[in-house]
Amino acid sequence: MQPTASQYFGSMVGEYDSLIRRAVPRYDEMRERLLEYLPDTAESILELGCGTGNLSLALAAKYPDARLTLVDAAPEMLDVTRLRLAEENTTGERRFVHSTFEDLPCEEGEFDLITSCISLHHVREKAPLYRKLLRFLSSDGRLIFADQLRGVTDRVHAINWRLWLEFCRQPPSCSEEEIQSLLDHAEEHDHYTPLAEHFELLSAAGFRDLDCTWRNLIWGIIHASA
Ligand SMILES: C[S@@+](CC[C@H](N)C(=O)[O-])C[C@H]1O[C@@H](n2cnc3c(N)ncnc32)[C@H](O)[C@@H]1O
Repeated sequence: MQPTASQYFGSMVGEYDSLIRRAVPRYDEMRERLLEYLPDTAESILELGCGTGNLSLALAAKYPDARLTLVDAAPEMLDVTRLRLAEENTTGERRFVHSTFEDLPCEEGEFDLITSCISLHHVREKAPLYRKLLRFLSSDGRLIFADQLRGVTDRVHAINWRLWLEFCRQPPSCSEEEIQSLLDHAEEHDHYTPLAEHFELLSAAGFRDLDCTWRNLIWGIIHASA
């Protein structure tokens, strides 16, 4: 049986931070930009797919007193994030939840901010996910996330894909073996949705104030208000 997306990430936890910067153009810029648009204050935050904690650490620094709920289906990833947050000695309440996004147990209206960085494209069925995330949010809550998107047409998507592979081969490049493993992973686990379809699904779920504040090739940042 093929490993799940989180088993794939769990098995590469040691190499993840190096690989992601060689495989995702402007990875750090994208996270910085995501942070710029998050609300000035938040009391209860849900991060979906914390991975090695690159966004989690920034959230803990931006909202030192907030209750942070970090979710990942790879226990190896949660362990790294737990350790990194402990080393930072941050003060707010932290919850580490080993769950898939699809099965996530949360209370209605529990969060005023839900965020995520390049994780939600692993979910095939986005409509039920968006309906569920809206239920988790308070009435003035926000969903703001970075993700991998499909181009609006096959041609646009193919150009984005070619430019991405060119990036992977530029120094400090990915090896051909790493590129093949990324392609195999994408084929098996990535479910790309065009931006306009994300907006339709979010709107149908009941979200409003939809926007895209940053875009580069297949990567983009999406905003929605409850
Ligand atoms: C590409 S990594 C992103 C990690 C981190 N947010 C970052 O920006 O580097 C995707 C993460 O989502 C997790 N993941 C993938 N599919 C998932 C699912 N259906 N439910 C829960 N976690 C999932 C993986 O285990 C992995 O840690």
